[in-house]
Amino acid sequence: MKVPFDPDLRPRAHFTARCNWINDPNGLVFADGEYHLFFQHNAEGMVPERASWGHAVGTDLLSWTELSVAIPATDTEYALSGSVVVDRENASGLGTTGQPPMVALYTSLDPVTKIQSQSVAFSTDRGRTWTRYAANPVLDIGSTEFRDPKIIRTGDSWVMAVVMADRWKVRFYRSADLLHWDQVSEFGPLGSVDGVWECPDVVKVPIEGTSEAAWVLLLSVQSGGPAGGSGMQYVVGTFDGTRFDATGEARWLDYGADFYAAVSYTDAPGDAPIIQGWMSNWDYATAVPGGDFRGSMTLPRRLSLRPGEYGLRLVQRPIVAAADPIFRTDDLPVDGRLELPCVGIAMRLTAVFEPGEAQRVGVEVRVGPGERTRIVVDRAAQTVALDRTASGIVDVHPTFPAVHTAPLTDTELVRLDVYVDVASVEVLAADGAVALTAQVFPSPDSTGLAVFAEGGVARLRELIVTPL
Ligand code: FRU
Repeated sequence: MKVPFDPDLRPRAHFTARCNWINDPNGLVFADGEYHLFFQHNAEGMVPERASWGHAVGTDLLSWTELSVAIPATDTEYALSGSVVVDRENASGLGTTGQPPMVALYTSLDPVTKIQSQSVAFSTDRGRTWTRYAANPVLDIGSTEFRDPKIIRTGDSWVMAVVMADRWKVRFYRSADLLHWDQVSEFGPLGSVDGVWECPDVVKVPIEGTSEAAWVLLLSVQSGGPAGGSGMQYVVGTFDGTRFDATGEARWLDYGADFYAAVSYTDAPGDAPIIQGWMSNWDYATAVPGGDFRGSMTLPRRLSLRPGEYGLRLVQRPIVAAADPIFRTDDLPVDGRLELPCVGIAMRLTAVFEPGEAQRVGVEVRVGPGERTRIVVDRAAQTVALDRTASGIVDVHPTFPAVHTAPLTDTELVRLDVYVDVASVEVLAADGAVALTAQVFPSPDSTGLAVFAEGGVARLRELIVTPL
């Protein structure tokens, strides 16, 4: 299939590389007042080959400056996903006097043997230049499915969570110096095992309304996700610095098709972890329309946990810049479909409905002739759905034109928080407890907005649109 070339796909608020292919975020870390966003990158082309670590920095998680490639692929080693920590005490000995090193743990892929092992690179100039550790790899078990190390600081040591991808296990290793690693435990399988496991993370997440926190394991699953193809699951549990034990069941983190490989920013200010993912799906990532770049990150999302009938649920709140509304309306009766003034192709929209007698309520974004992306709350089915069947270009992959559905139990008052950014839609419902993320490829002049209520009259209590 020939995919269209479209130079106008560049989003406003989502990170993209200057050019060429990107996938997973890597090495997310806050250090010396800067956020670092490294990423899987083919610096030479639009398909995932010769993985390098690209690099961008910024101070607010909103805008980024792309720097030069941090860890380039070589003919004998591709640099797959991993993480970065600041080695403040210079336990690794890789720093210089007065300059603690930033240390990256990444997966080395041998392009010939396909062996995946864990390697180190370090920087003593605030991440501007990186050197591979001379004695790489630092952890090699001779496996071709052993990847994506995420380093967590626990007490005096470091813990690495890393997947045995095709055995659905997260292994935990411990180290005092980031260079020598001993296995301390293993977790899994649990939840979805349709696809290989990738990109693990373990984060401590504050529980809303309390001064407590609980540990959450984040995992990416390459196929069998809730919307088909790749997806992410999470599980709440305990973590004592050596082992993770589940106390809840595995749940989907996002019910859309395009939220993958998210991990947290190490050392981010505040108690709540901030995660960021790759906004695509391995089923069709190489086939989506491209311009001079292909792939973007999701918005960063701040996490919390909310206690409820079914235990602790993960809550996600995207981080965007505050802005004055470009459109707002209060207290509008909605009976059927109501077109509103055009709002453009990049905006945040919050809508609060009192459905009353209506069975279905929702919004349509990127509305144009024959095109719309629908967000539908169905009260009888107790669901919220993101319908991209008529969203624009959909012949990306046979599964692309689909309706993705998430459970939504409380529909007395419906609040939708929607982020539309040129080629994507991120939907948060139930005050952040339900997420749906999807890429869409409407024509640039599909700038309209509509609201609807079916099966009765609903009240649109409030609608606010702000630019992204
Ligand atoms: C996840 C993933 C990782 C791997 C990287 C390769 O999307 O498959 O497991 O390290 O991408 O680019």
